[in-house]
Amino acid sequence: MSKENIYILGIESSCDDTSAAVLCNDTILSNVVASQKIHEDYGGVVPELASRAHQSNIVPVVNQAIKKAGITKSQLHAVAFTRGPGLMGSLLVGTSFAKSLAYGLDIPLIDVNHMQGHILAHFISEDDYLKPPFPFLAMTISGGHTQIVKVNRYFDMEVIGETIDDAVGEAYDKSGKILGLGYPAGPQIDKLAQKGNPKAFKFTKPKVDGLNFSFSGLKTAILYFVQRETKGNPDFVKDNLADICASIQYTIVGILMNKLKLAVKQTGIIHIAIGGGVSANSGIRAALKNAEQKFGWTTYIPKFEYTTDNAAMIAIVGYLKYLEKDFSDFNVMATARLKI
Ligand code: KG4
Ligand code: ZN
Repeated sequence: MSKENIYILGIESSCDDTSAAVLCNDTILSNVVASQKIHEDYGGVVPELASRAHQSNIVPVVNQAIKKAGITKSQLHAVAFTRGPGLMGSLLVGTSFAKSLAYGLDIPLIDVNHMQGHILAHFISEDDYLKPPFPFLAMTISGGHTQIVKVNRYFDMEVIGETIDDAVGEAYDKSGKILGLGYPAGPQIDKLAQKGNPKAFKFTKPKVDGLNFSFSGLKTAILYFVQRETKGNPDFVKDNLADICASIQYTIVGILMNKLKLAVKQTGIIHIAIGGGVSANSGIRAALKNAEQKFGWTTYIPKFEYTTDNAAMIAIVGYLKYLEKDFSDFNVMATARLKI
């Protein structure tokens, strides 16, 4: 007897991407993301503009996801949505929409922790993608998050390190702003870094005990460095852009890799999975590949569309919770500072 196919709609609206995805069991049928370009004009995400854009995007994005999946709403088994962490106004749009839809269709509602979504995105079925075995270490690095999590089982996770101030993507974006680059600056710094000398300039690494991270000092160090150097040569940044970017990247990758090495030492776990927008970074990818050879680690990096904020990762958590009949009460509230 063949098992019944389970269709889950996932909705993500925690920051500046409105996304909806439909999953059939653990396979993605559609994953629609509407990125909000408006924030580029402001050099960062403006919360009020984000929630307004979610409001206008959510209906067309959900409709498109269902249409692309080739199913009808009546075939859905559950609606999964991001409860938190994230921007309150943005989360409220997705939460209210998911509640109304699940209520209207008379199907279960499933609340999802966005950070668990980044981690469990590794369990979306892809032809040639090997899923990490338990236990593994997950490092989530993006514009909003920097965390190392020990993952014992799907819903048995321990945060063993996190940033005490800025996220790593924020460090990239804020450094880029100082250098006059547009938002988001991470991909531009990465591209320029590949043409520069990583040892041209030295930025001190923050001294944070244990597995926690700090990135706000680096941004200040870069600001003072640029102010000092441009006094002597107003064209300093223009003349040395690739070298500055390479040196910033070298410093950031060094910080991430040092913490990962310490996490491996403390836990004895050598399976390392990464996620979040910064996992697209060529420096961190090269460093992880190198660690596979040098230290015998196995590293896992999902497809790019499942590493940046997306609803497929929310839908896979919804599917795993659906199997456990872990449904939400309709009184569930969006929670901006939701913990793992
Ligand atoms: O996951 P994401 O799309 O959104 C959230 O922040 O949740 O991540 C966006 C962040 C931005 O800070 C962006 O600058 C950074 O990821 N980013 C990169 C690269 N691609 C994106 N940072 C460094 N190198 C990259 N190649
Ligand atoms: Zn995220």
